[in-house]
Amino acid sequence: MSNERFQKLEKLKFANKATVDKDLNEKSNLNISKKTSKRPSNQLKGSLLGWYSVLSTQSLKQNQLYFFSMFNEPLVIYKDKDSVVKCIKDLCPHRGASFRGGKITNEGELVCPYHGARYTSKGECSNLDRITCNHIVDTNYDNYAKKIHLYQYPCIEKGDYIYIYYTGKAKTNLTEFNIDSKIEETVPESYGFSTSEYAYEEVTVDFKADWSRIIENHLDILHIFWVHGDTIPDKDVSKNVITSFDQEIIREQSQIESKYNHKDKSKGEFITIKFIPPGRVVIYKGTPETARYVQILDHIPLANNRARVIVRHYRKFLKNKLITKLIMFKQLQHKIFYKVFKEDYLILRTQTFNQQMGYIEKDNVKLLGEDKMVQYYWDWLQNALNKDKPWDLHPMKVNTNSIHEDSDMLYPPENPKLAKKNIRSIQFNLLLRSLFPIGGILLILL
Ligand code: FES
Ligand SMILES: [Fe+2]
Repeated sequence: MSNERFQKLEKLKFANKATVDKDLNEKSNLNISKKTSKRPSNQLKGSLLGWYSVLSTQSLKQNQLYFFSMFNEPLVIYKDKDSVVKCIKDLCPHRGASFRGGKITNEGELVCPYHGARYTSKGECSNLDRITCNHIVDTNYDNYAKKIHLYQYPCIEKGDYIYIYYTGKAKTNLTEFNIDSKIEETVPESYGFSTSEYAYEEVTVDFKADWSRIIENHLDILHIFWVHGDTIPDKDVSKNVITSFDQEIIREQSQIESKYNHKDKSKGEFITIKFIPPGRVVIYKGTPETARYVQILDHIPLANNRARVIVRHYRKFLKNKLITKLIMFKQLQHKIFYKVFKEDYLILRTQTFNQQMGYIEKDNVKLLGEDKMVQYYWDWLQNALNKDKPWDLHPMKVNTNSIHEDSDMLYPPENPKLAKKNIRSIQFNLLLRSLFPIGGILLILL
C-alpha cells in the first residue's frame, strides 16, 4: 500500500445477523445536515466536482449528438472530424436554443437547428458570412460572429470510457480550466486493474431516483442476499442461506475499500467493494492484479431525481468472441443486469421520496455494523455537498418543460423496452439454433 496515502485499517468482525453498532447508531443520520465534523486524516477527500466517467466509447457514434446532463445542466458530447471527443453546454450562444435537432456536418462542425449557426471543433462560429441565409440586417454581423463561442468542458477518451471534467461552469476557452487532478489518477489502471486484459459486457441504466441513493445501494452488501438472491447466479447469494463474514475496511483519502471474507476460512474471500469519489464503485474478488472478474459502476448525477449508471463487467474468461456469441453470453448477461436493476428500482424510488419529503429523520434509521461502508460514504457526501454545492450551480426551476427528462432517459426500468428487446433476441436466437443449427452458426458468423 502506498506510503503517500493515509490509511487506517479497521477490522470489524461480524456475522450476518443483527449486530447493532452502537457508535454508528448514534451517528446515523441520512439527512444531509449542514454540520461539518472534524475530519480525521483518513477521511475521503474527493470533490463532487472533477472527473466523471459519463459515457462508454462504444456508445458514441461518429456524427452522433449525445445529450445528457450533469447536476441539471444540459450537455452534449460528440466527436469532431478527427474523432476527438467534445463536451459542450447544450446551449447555442446565439439565442439559447438546444442542439437537439441539430447535426454535425461532414467537416465535423456542429450546426444549431434554430438559425443554422455552425461551430468548429474549437467552439468558434464558422459561418462568418451569414448564420442562416442572406436576410441579415445586422451591419456588424462579422464582428458578432467572431464573438459567439460554445461553452465547453474538458473531455477525454480513456480505456473505452469518455470522461468529462465537470465544474458546473462551462467556459469558452478550455485552457482556463484549473484541472487539479490528472485523468491518469482516475482510470481503473490507477488502482491496479489492467483493463486491456479483460473482455467486458456493459449496460447503461437510468433511474428516477436520487444519485447518491444509488451509490449507497451499490455499497450495500446486505441487500444483495435479500433483494437479488434469486437473480445473481452465486450459491452464496440467497436469502435462504445465512452467510457469515469478517469485514475489513481500509479508509484512505482517495478511496474506501471493504473486504468481506467468509468466516469459514476454507471458503476465502467473498467480495471486495471499493468506493472512489465522486461516482465510481468497483467490485471484485482477490486483488486488482489477479481478479478474474471486475464490476465497475459509474454513477452520473443527471438531475434532481435522475441518475444514470454505466455498469461494466470485465472478465478474464470467455474472451473468445465466437463462443460468447454462440452461447448468447451478452444477451444472458444483459438479462441479469436488467433484472437486478428492476429489483432495486422500487426501493430506490421510495427511499429517495422518503428522504426528500423529510420522512427520514435522525432517529428513524439505525445502522448495522455491516452498514459502516454506507456511513463512511454519507460522511464523505455530506462534507462534499457542503463544500462544493453542485446542486446549487444549476437549480431546477419548477414548471420547467420536461424535454430533457423525456428524451434523455435511456433505460428507465419502468419502461423496460430494452429488456424486452433483449428477451426477444434470446428467443429468436434459441429458435434459430433449434431449427437450423448449421444455418444458425453461419448466420452468426456473417
Ligand atoms: S439559437 Fe442557435 S443559431 Fe440562433
Ligand atoms: Fe442492488
